Amino acid sequence: MISIRDLSFRYAGGGRDALSGINLEIPPGEFLGIIGSSGAGKSTLTYALNGIVPHHYPGDFYGSVLVNGLDTVDAGPEALARQAGSVFQDIDGQMVASVVEDEILFGLENFGIPRNEIESRLEEALLAAGIQELRYRELSSLSGGQKQKAAIAAITALKPGIIILDEPTGELDPQSSRKIFDYLRELNEKQGITIIVVEQKIMLLCEFAKRLAVMDKGVLVREGTVTEVLQRPDILEGAGVNIPRVTTLGKALGEKGLYRGELPHNLPQAEAMMKEVLC
Ligand SMILES: Nc1ncnc2c1ncn2[C@@H]1O[C@H](COP(=O)(O)OP(=O)(O)OP(=O)(O)O)[C@@H](O)[C@H]1O
Ligand SMILES: [Mg+2]
Repeated sequence: MISIRDLSFRYAGGGRDALSGINLEIPPGEFLGIIGSSGAGKSTLTYALNGIVPHHYPGDFYGSVLVNGLDTVDAGPEALARQAGSVFQDIDGQMVASVVEDEILFGLENFGIPRNEIESRLEEALLAAGIQELRYRELSSLSGGQKQKAAIAAITALKPGIIILDEPTGELDPQSSRKIFDYLRELNEKQGITIIVVEQKIMLLCEFAKRLAVMDKGVLVREGTVTEVLQRPDILEGAGVNIPRVTTLGKALGEKGLYRGELPHNLPQAEAMMKEVLC
C-alpha cells in the first residue's frame, strides 16, 4: 500500500514545484498508469516513491509518502528498494554490471538472498522476461528493448511487492512495447505485484492499466479508472496528453448531439457506440 499525502517537492534551485499538493492512494495489486507531458513531474513522482527524492536530490519536501507503512523520509532508498523495485527512465545509468547475468546477481547478492536460492531466482527471472539466451551477453551489446527486459528481470528477481517503471517502452517499437506490457500484466495478475508505470502511449495504458493518474505541471489533475479518466478528454488534452482516436470520435459525436453515452477508449466500446448512433 502506498499513501501519498499533500506531497509537494521543489528541487534545490528549481523555479517551481516539480510536485504540488499530490494526494494518492495505491492499494496492493493495483496497475496504475501515470501519464502527462514532458516536465509534468512523472519521474519526480516515482522518485518520491523510491526515496530518491528527497534523499538523492535535495530540495523542499512537504507532506508524506508511506510505502507499506515506511515513511520515505525516514526509511531511505535501501530499505525502500526491498518494498518497491524501480526501473528508471535512464536505464543505462541504472545498470551496474557489464553482463546480463551479473546485473541480476548483483541485486540478489546485495539483498542477501541465500546462496541456494540465487540460481533458481536468476533462471526464473530470465525465463519470465524471455531473455534466457541473453544471460551471458554484454549489456552494452543489447538493443534498447533487450536492455529494458534485462533491467526488469533484475528487479523481478528480487520479488518486490511493488514495481515502478519509468517509461519502460520509451525506446521500443509497438510490438516490443506490447510484450513488455503483457509481461507486466502477468506479474500483476499471476503474482499480485503492484505495477506503477509511467507511459506516454495512451493506448497501451488504456488496454493494460486499471487506473490512470494524469500529471500536469506538478499537479495530479485526474485519477481514476481508465474509463473514468477518459470521460474527461478536456482534462487530458489540457495536460498535453493525446487521447485515443475512438475517444475523440465519441467526443465529436457528443458535441453534435448524436451520442450521450460513455466515451469509448477501445475498439469494442467504439463498435458499441457506433451501433447506438446508427440504430
Ligand atoms: N535534478 C533536477 N534538478 C532540478 N530540476 C529538475 C530535476 N529533475 C527534474 N527537474 C524539473 O522538475 C520538473 C519535473 O520533471 P520530471 O523529470 O519529473 O518530469 P517528467 O514528467 O518525468 O518529464 P519527461 O516526460 O520529460 O520524462 C521539470 O520542470 C524539470 O525541469
Ligand atoms: Mg520523466
